Amino acid sequence: MSQGPTIDPAALLAEAHAAREQAYAPYSRFRVGAALLCRDGSVVRGCNVENVSYGLSVCAERTAIGNAVVSGQRDFVAIAVATADPSGTPPCGMCRQVLYEFAPELVVIMETQEGSEQISAAELLPKGFGPEDLAPGQE
Ligand code: THU
Repeated sequence: MSQGPTIDPAALLAEAHAAREQAYAPYSRFRVGAALLCRDGSVVRGCNVENVSYGLSVCAERTAIGNAVVSGQRDFVAIAVATADPSGTPPCGMCRQVLYEFAPELVVIMETQEGSEQISAAELLPKGFGPEDLAPGQE
């Protein structure tokens, strides 16, 4: 596996803010954008997409993952998440699980008053349930 691209947190957050412009959040009015850095250096965007049946709403992090997978990417290096809150927004529990599936070492970048902070998907989901835990043949 190649080492991958250098992470530029400010640039990735800028992409996440651009993605946030597309957010569809008429119910919560809480618009979220995400920018997912892939091993090949490409950046895939996501935004939250809500639904009138509220529970069907999808977070920005998960639309970014789905958007990347459908374009052939599965090897992820970092994800930045942007909201209107200058002190940052951490990924929800469901998104933590989805990020962990593809990359426990994924660097999650959240905005802070000072700039940004980084934490891995595995740190966000301690003792996470991953693909290797689903042993075949167990019932
Ligand atoms: N949301 C995200 O898209 N990502 C997060 O990290 C936190 C929450 C969305 C879900 C919903 O559309 C809105 O923000 C309010 O919860």
